[in-house]
Amino acid sequence: MLKNVDLYYFSPTGGTKKVALMFAKGLAKKVNLINLGDKKVLKEPESDLIVVAAPVFGGRIPALVSDKIRTLDAAGKKAVSLVVYGTRAYEDALLELNDALKDIQVQIIASGDFVAQHSIVSEVGKGRPDNKDIEEIKTFAKNVLDKMEDRNNDNDTEKEIKVPGSRPYKTAMKITDTPISTSRCTLCGTCEEACPTGAIYIDGNELTTDLRKCILCMACTYVCPEDARVLPKKLQESDDEMLKPLIGIYRENETFL
Ligand SMILES: Cc1cc2nc3c(=O)[nH]c(=O)nc-3n(C[C@H](O)[C@H](O)[C@H](O)COP(=O)(O)O)c2cc1C
Repeated sequence: MLKNVDLYYFSPTGGTKKVALMFAKGLAKKVNLINLGDKKVLKEPESDLIVVAAPVFGGRIPALVSDKIRTLDAAGKKAVSLVVYGTRAYEDALLELNDALKDIQVQIIASGDFVAQHSIVSEVGKGRPDNKDIEEIKTFAKNVLDKMEDRNNDNDTEKEIKVPGSRPYKTAMKITDTPISTSRCTLCGTCEEACPTGAIYIDGNELTTDLRKCILCMACTYVCPEDARVLPKKLQESDDEMLKPLIGIYRENETFL
């Protein structure tokens, strides 16, 4: 076990954090959690190994993750990259995350893609990560520790971790609509606080969502204490329809070491 590990994550609805924290706890006694969705400047990592975890949006990682990672002063550190997706596909997301990490000169020693419940259509991948996922996440952590130990013994030339995906990456998802607040909204401000891109403003009795800033991450719907924040009916219905064929499909996790 390592003494400590810094976990950099973005997890608007908790699935990515669940997977990544379980993994990090399998690596180290102490996990420092750094939420990339906070509007704070990133501090230099304390640990020699960092874990970076992002959800998959439209086959990519959210731009705020790659932008924030590129501001991190972590040259020379080792990293494990994780993407968490909702059963459809992760496409270029893991490659994009690894490219951002290479840009800041960290050495990627392992990567993985894991499945969590879909944050727009909860019937897809329902209940994941499940017990089998938990076992796989723990095994992955153990394999990473073993690999680090082997390396310390024989100083092997570092092999590059190859992950699926292609460049140029898939065109970024186009956001045509944002979540809305129903009449149950009490203007409590929880969503405004949670929005990682500052797309929600409350002014007097009015709540506005800026379509140009919204990344449709669902953080606002997840935190709303009144369940008043939802996708517009038309958008929810079209996503339900599009993702319906994936209900009951069990996608396997993958690891690259
Ligand atoms: C806007 C948006 C786009 C998504 N795109 C994909 C996708 O391309 N492929 C996929 O399998 N899941 C996709 N998902 C599902 C998420 O990747 C999945 O639910 C993930 O666990 C969300 O992470 P979180 O729980 O940390 O917010 C998408 C979710 C959202 C909100």
